Amino acid sequence: MCGIVGYTGLGPGATAGVTASSTPLDVTMEGLSRLEYRGYDSAGVALVGPSLDRVASAKKAGKLANLVEEIGLHPLPDATAAIGHTRWATHGGPTDANAHPHLADGDRLAVIHNGIVENFAVLRDELLADGVVFRSETDTEVAAQLIAKAYRETGDLTAAMGAVAGRLHGTFTLLAVHADLPDTVVGARHDSPLVVGLGEGENFLASDVAAFVSRTREALELGQDQIVTITPTSVAVTDFDGNPGEARRFTVTWDVAAAEKGGFRSFMDKEIHDQPQAVADTLLGRTNASGALVLDDVRVDETLLRAVNKIIVVACGTAAYSGHVAKYAIERWCRIEVEVELAHEFRYRDPIVDEKTLVVAVTQSGETMDTLMAMRHAREQGALVISIVNTHGSTIPRESDAVLYTHAGPEIAVASTKAFLAQVTAAYLLGLYLAQLRGCMRPDEIAAVLAELRDMPQKIHTVIERGEHVRATAESMRDASSVLFLGRHVGFPVALEGALKLKELAYIHAEGFAAGELKHGPIALIDEGQPVFVVVPSPRGRDSLHSKMISTIQEIRARGARTLVIAEDGDDEVHAYADEVFWIPQAPKLLQPLLAVVPLQMFAMALAAAKGLDVDQPRNLAKSVTVE
Ligand code: F6R
Repeated sequence: MCGIVGYTGLGPGATAGVTASSTPLDVTMEGLSRLEYRGYDSAGVALVGPSLDRVASAKKAGKLANLVEEIGLHPLPDATAAIGHTRWATHGGPTDANAHPHLADGDRLAVIHNGIVENFAVLRDELLADGVVFRSETDTEVAAQLIAKAYRETGDLTAAMGAVAGRLHGTFTLLAVHADLPDTVVGARHDSPLVVGLGEGENFLASDVAAFVSRTREALELGQDQIVTITPTSVAVTDFDGNPGEARRFTVTWDVAAAEKGGFRSFMDKEIHDQPQAVADTLLGRTNASGALVLDDVRVDETLLRAVNKIIVVACGTAAYSGHVAKYAIERWCRIEVEVELAHEFRYRDPIVDEKTLVVAVTQSGETMDTLMAMRHAREQGALVISIVNTHGSTIPRESDAVLYTHAGPEIAVASTKAFLAQVTAAYLLGLYLAQLRGCMRPDEIAAVLAELRDMPQKIHTVIERGEHVRATAESMRDASSVLFLGRHVGFPVALEGALKLKELAYIHAEGFAAGELKHGPIALIDEGQPVFVVVPSPRGRDSLHSKMISTIQEIRARGARTLVIAEDGDDEVHAYADEVFWIPQAPKLLQPLLAVVPLQMFAMALAAAKGLDVDQPRNLAKSVTVE
């Protein structure tokens, strides 16, 4: 939530191969364009330079394009350092005045912020008593005024930032520039993301490496409660009291092409097409020469893992649905009880957790505040925490006992697609690993599941290739006002995910149900023409799930539903009762979600596009939810 960028450089061409037209403003605007998925209520920039006695700034409500237009109309002067912000509004509506940066100290200081300052009202009263006049309703302006006051007292921007950071409650990343220091950007982080990009003759600060990966892939991951001061040739890290601190260096493993559309109409379209690779990359290098599963990144004492008697998956939204899939697989393979809990509910219900509980935190961004807080709560109670994370350098892996990285690459579209498939894949790996460790499955049984998993990328590719039928159906349904989704067993979380995708992208009422629940109430919703997606389990299973699902389709059809069925190739029984069938390749029952969800993602995307909506940036949402 909120994207922030800071830049300071010796001048155009500081990094070999960079075009001579790259000014701090250009670099910052490019960074903002790559972070816009984090929030798009407003955008702004602030510049400092040796010839400027005040901060030069521009800000505008709405998407980044509005700021670009504003700067086109009112060009900004040359500068040597810059900060930029793209906002998801919390305190104060999405207006020009509430857009960041916020200026103070006679417009000589500019501050941007990601997070929420919870004690802002008390601090604001204190400043009002001092005679400070506020120009916005934001908590950020309070921080800006406090930094200005501390800077006047100390004459040291780094010390001023540290002193103020120590007084703020809540979550924040703050960046500041001052006209007195034309080559310096100072940042602070507490429970919000901030990474440093290390260039040659230039350095960067950003919420996410995507902001600077076109210029450098060398980065530093800041620790909790640290202050960082960058100039073109130096990076200094301290704690809030000014004591030297350390940051972990890492190299970004993907390049800028991964964060671009690459010829697709939208990032979401590209990311759906990236899914076979995301699954293949998440599986890569997970077995040793003798075929045993090796999760190198899960560095946890094996005796602790053997002693685990309960697993709780904590996550939000789509990531939580991947946890639901994990429950079916892990319980089946390991015979350990698995609970799945929305992270924001977990923490506040006094959950029963002890040192024999394994908490699995699933998150694409690695920054979701609800998940972070749930995980911290679990660790305080003595639980072991393994996170499944896509974003390197984020907070959740650093605070976990171990991390299992998904390798989906950067996910830019706000609605998650490839991260979900990678999370499900990683959860299968974790389940098989625990089964191996605890001797619940024979090596040949584990090898057989791994072989099936390795076939999945090709099968996902097949589903994507069959997308035309889904697109055409979606386009014919652009006037639908409600769509229902039914599934059983692992098809249930798939139904929930299909409904979530449709809600967030096409703004249509959509609900997912466990099909068995239908007769207990929801069937009352079915009337003439009601579209219902039904995820049909494999007919090859030895249980009766398939025939039960066929009965469900008959029941809703008899009441007028338009049945849109996702079924496995060769499932001849569904023909008789389906208005449309979206075929997916055959797969073992537990692995079917990797295929069945894909037509639902494509359906939501196509329907949103048919309605003329912004597929990548749905209204009111932001990619990374870094406030509770
Ligand atoms: C929906 C979606 C969200 C996220 C949720 C958790 O398409 O993307 O529901 O899954 O906000 O985000 P992460 O995975 O970053 O913790």
